[in-house]
Amino acid sequence: MPSFPTLDDARVDGRRILVRVDFNVPLKDGGVGDDTRIRKSLPTLRELLQRDATLVLCSHLGRPKGPQDDARMEGVAAHLGTLLERDVRYLATPGPGADEQQAFVAEAPRGSVTLLENTRFDRRETANDPELAQVLASYADAYVNDAFGAAHRAHASTEGVARLLPSCAGRLLERELRVLGGLLEAPERPFVVVLGGAKVSDKIGVIERLLEVADRLLIGGAMAFTFVKARGGNVGDSRVEEDRLELARELTEAARSRGVELLLPTDALCAREIAAEAETSVHDVDAIPAGLLGLDIGPSSIEAFLAALDDAATVLWNGPMGVFEVSPFDTGTRKLAEALAASSAMTVIGGGDSVAAINDLGLADQMGHISTGGGASLELLEGKTLPGVAALGSVAWD
Ligand code: 3PG
Repeated sequence: MPSFPTLDDARVDGRRILVRVDFNVPLKDGGVGDDTRIRKSLPTLRELLQRDATLVLCSHLGRPKGPQDDARMEGVAAHLGTLLERDVRYLATPGPGADEQQAFVAEAPRGSVTLLENTRFDRRETANDPELAQVLASYADAYVNDAFGAAHRAHASTEGVARLLPSCAGRLLERELRVLGGLLEAPERPFVVVLGGAKVSDKIGVIERLLEVADRLLIGGAMAFTFVKARGGNVGDSRVEEDRLELARELTEAARSRGVELLLPTDALCAREIAAEAETSVHDVDAIPAGLLGLDIGPSSIEAFLAALDDAATVLWNGPMGVFEVSPFDTGTRKLAEALAASSAMTVIGGGDSVAAINDLGLADQMGHISTGGGASLELLEGKTLPGVAALGSVAWD
């Protein structure tokens, strides 16, 4: 795990602090849809406010190519104000470096909270332009990065500005790095990894790295069909990455030679199309008839996967077991989520769709750790250095 300064090491008290948060949240009817990421930033914000800091917050929202009304931070500012039970200052501007914004920030009263306009309204953000980093640095005495979800991006507000101000990780970023980083270093054993989702290609690096530390690897979701086909199975019309068959064979061999138990589904719930009313049937995963798509792991696989979790001390789960957005293809994902909720193991949910599934099921409170990062959690689990973390501590605290 990289070493990084935390709020415990930082002289933030009574100072102006630029906080990079990841408020890249789904919007709904002009307001915030799922506010998980905002809620998870509250401990850091509350701690800073208790320490008498004046907060200037910044975040990206979506991937706008310039100022765009439907990507403004206004609704997020209002939502944050409700959660914090205080006024959150916000000014709609063309971008984070705009002149009117500089004046607005300069006028921020002591102890106030200001949320800047979407950082990606300014093209210099994703280019990690030093000029924009300089503008952001001019807003504060110090910088706290709590945006784990964006820590894999070397952008002006995540990496550039960290090189210009005394900086540290916020509590959310700190916990993400300790929990996810800790899995790669010293997991309590047995350590069981459950991977799902559509594509093997999205998770090659993660599988390779996790094969070095996991005791057992369970693969569900459409990506399992690439493994099944690679060993000669007949998967009907199920989704397969033809150009990854060789890779799937190599990963299977790597698991065998490292002594990692690799579990693939034994059966699949199939249909001709992804539709709630579609006629379904269960087939052996190696003998799916032509014209049918495997859309969820089948009942025997569910039983085997749950049994493989029984003695686990640590479980990492990333990716749904089937097309969980459409019932009845949500059963595998739901049963897995319920088993993890009831498990005494340290359960870590690695971002993206599995988090959405757990939130939908109302099981979030029963998991050990739910990551706020999608791409960032995958890159961390691959063992990659996250630029937003590597830059922290570049400037010494005075
Ligand atoms: C995410 O949602 O994964 C983060 O906010 C990063 O967003 P990005 O992929 O647009 O950089």
